[in-house]
Amino acid sequence: MGAWESMDSTMRSEYHVAIVTGASSGIGAELARQLARAGVRVGLTARRVDLLEAVAGEIRAKGGVAAIAPADAADSDATRRAIVSLTGELGPVDLLIANAGLGLSTPSLGFSAREFEQMVRVNLLGAAVAIEAVLPGMIERGQGRLVGVSSLAAFRGLPVNAGYSATKAGLSTLLEGLRVDLRRQGVFVTIVHPGFVRTPMIEDGDGERLFVMEVDRAARIILNGVASRRRYVNFPWPTVALMRFARALPGPFFDALVSAVFFGHKARVNAQAGDETPSS
Ligand SMILES: NC(=O)c1ccc[n+]([C@@H]2O[C@H](COP(=O)([O-])OP(=O)(O)OC[C@H]3O[C@@H](n4cnc5c(N)ncnc54)[C@H](OP(=O)(O)O)[C@@H]3O)[C@@H](O)[C@H]2O)c1
Repeated sequence: MGAWESMDSTMRSEYHVAIVTGASSGIGAELARQLARAGVRVGLTARRVDLLEAVAGEIRAKGGVAAIAPADAADSDATRRAIVSLTGELGPVDLLIANAGLGLSTPSLGFSAREFEQMVRVNLLGAAVAIEAVLPGMIERGQGRLVGVSSLAAFRGLPVNAGYSATKAGLSTLLEGLRVDLRRQGVFVTIVHPGFVRTPMIEDGDGERLFVMEVDRAARIILNGVASRRRYVNFPWPTVALMRFARALPGPFFDALVSAVFFGHKARVNAQAGDETPSS
């Protein structure tokens, strides 16, 4: 049996029903497809119904079982209702993947608490509400796994994306504390820290993207980590190494280095854009 088949068989034997938030696109949609291929019944939630229906349709066409329940993660009641509806349709949840996320930049010039609030609501509170909706059932049955898709941006506050970094650091810390709390309840926690993954989230940004991974590979790595009961799934390794190095740097070195790399790159991009602007 190959490594992927063995992972699929572990997923099938340990997990019957999974809920994936943010399943209309990118990593969440691919996680749902791969879970369904492994034989897990999947519940999908996000805001865009047409995309959720398309992913569920693909899964059903291949013989899998999928249910959808649209909800805005920033609306706690709607998120709870969606999870109750998915549980009613599919059965008790063994695996929650809290993946819905939003990456808005929060530059210091024109810093917007409004945009930060939106990210807190989706990336942090949205995940907490989904956890609250499935956790009592998991504790009662003495089994289950919570997976949170955080980011390597959680390792250190990053310029221009400080708000995003803060929400992801909050999510990782929340899950880490819950993991220790849940040790004796039969409920386990996996915290995922991806680097760049090719999805719509990074399509519009103008920053330099290092070590970008394709989405099918990223989803495989995440599910492999879940099947292997890992506490952390951090990838790809070059970005992990860079971010671990950044985390270990004392404040003055971190500030100088990150500022030189980040703003040096911005200056090069701006200079290039200036060169390409036709003169009138
Ligand atoms: N791509 C990367 O480089 C990268 C790196 C590190 C971490 N991540 C994390 O990976 C996760 C998935 O992101 P992705 O890269 O797959 O991006 P994506 O393709 O943009 O997907 C984001 C998902 O989150 C959902 N979402 C966003 N706002 C929502 C809201 N208010 N309510 C409900 N759902 C909402 C979106 O669905 P709707 O718009 O339909 O609601 C979509 O399904 C995120 O948590 C992201 O922070 C991504």
